[in-house]
Amino acid sequence: MDMKAELAARAKQVEAVIAAYLPKEEGYQKTVIEAMNYSVLAGGKRLRPILMWETYRMFGGRSKVIEPFMAAIEMIHTYSLVHDDLPAMDNDEYRRGKKTTHAQYGEAMGILAGDGLLNYAFETAVKAFEIEPGNLNIGKALQVLAQKAGICGMLGGQCVDVEAEGKPVTMEQLEFIYRLKTGALLECAMLVGAILAGATKGEQRQVEQAAGELGLAFQIQDDILDITSTTEVLGKPVGSDEKNHKITWAALRGIEGAKQDAKRLSEQSVGRMEGLVVKNEFLTRLMLELMQREK
Ligand code: IPE
Ligand code: IPE
Ligand code: MG
Ligand code: MG
Ligand code: MG
Repeated sequence: MDMKAELAARAKQVEAVIAAYLPKEEGYQKTVIEAMNYSVLAGGKRLRPILMWETYRMFGGRSKVIEPFMAAIEMIHTYSLVHDDLPAMDNDEYRRGKKTTHAQYGEAMGILAGDGLLNYAFETAVKAFEIEPGNLNIGKALQVLAQKAGICGMLGGQCVDVEAEGKPVTMEQLEFIYRLKTGALLECAMLVGAILAGATKGEQRQVEQAAGELGLAFQIQDDILDITSTTEVLGKPVGSDEKNHKITWAALRGIEGAKQDAKRLSEQSVGRMEGLVVKNEFLTRLMLELMQREK
């Protein structure tokens, strides 16, 4: 399997799905919609919708009901990035190879575009009911989408992350932050895929745990790249964590230790997926190869 080509093909399909659900740039409020679309269309790996889709397919899902959820999770993820880059947060000027939303449209529009994307994500996800009005799993998937983005998920992790700036943190605290700020949206992606495909409760639990470990590994790798990569390759500034006086996994464990941890966690995560009755070779290879990613 040519992973690079397969991944590029999926990203393209995902982008077509996302584009179909983006709002039209019209009306007096046009500026905020332009800012929303600017940040979503800037690019990015589209990892979360790809993981959602592949998990859905793994459990036999074949309907278009997954599509509004794929668009919604990328909107929520993008909103988290738009707000993460704000002057009051990480204060970064580049994202996905372009000016950050606030740098391009001003801080007020940056805040509103993030809010707009979060809200529009739910406006979009509920459209799944138009596709399958009687599908009770849609309600469960909506609940997961809401919770994983919120105070017990991504948002909660960002809170603890910001409060930890400039302070010594333990591995335990750091793991809490990473599992929430990054892990929660990966759990959301894979769990929503499993739920909508009708996976059993036991399978859902396995998938959620695997995604949590993958998320932790993914954030550790993000920290490593913040030190070892370049702005050109990443499309976002390197050295952001140091600038913001953040203690990261790489700082606590050293680059080599952090790499080992990320590898161990992603292998553990893939082991869980391979323990399931259903298989998806592309998905498990992608999960492993994420640890070799350069951006
Ligand atoms: C960046 O996520 C934020 C983290 C959780 C580390 P990605 O690395 O998935 O960013 P994009 O979507 O490809 O831009
Ligand atoms: C942010 O972590 C995770 C989010 C919820 C956005 P980082 O602050 O390390 O993400 P990057 O490096 O800016 O993408
Ligand atoms: Mg941050
Ligand atoms: Mg950041
Ligand atoms: Mg980072």
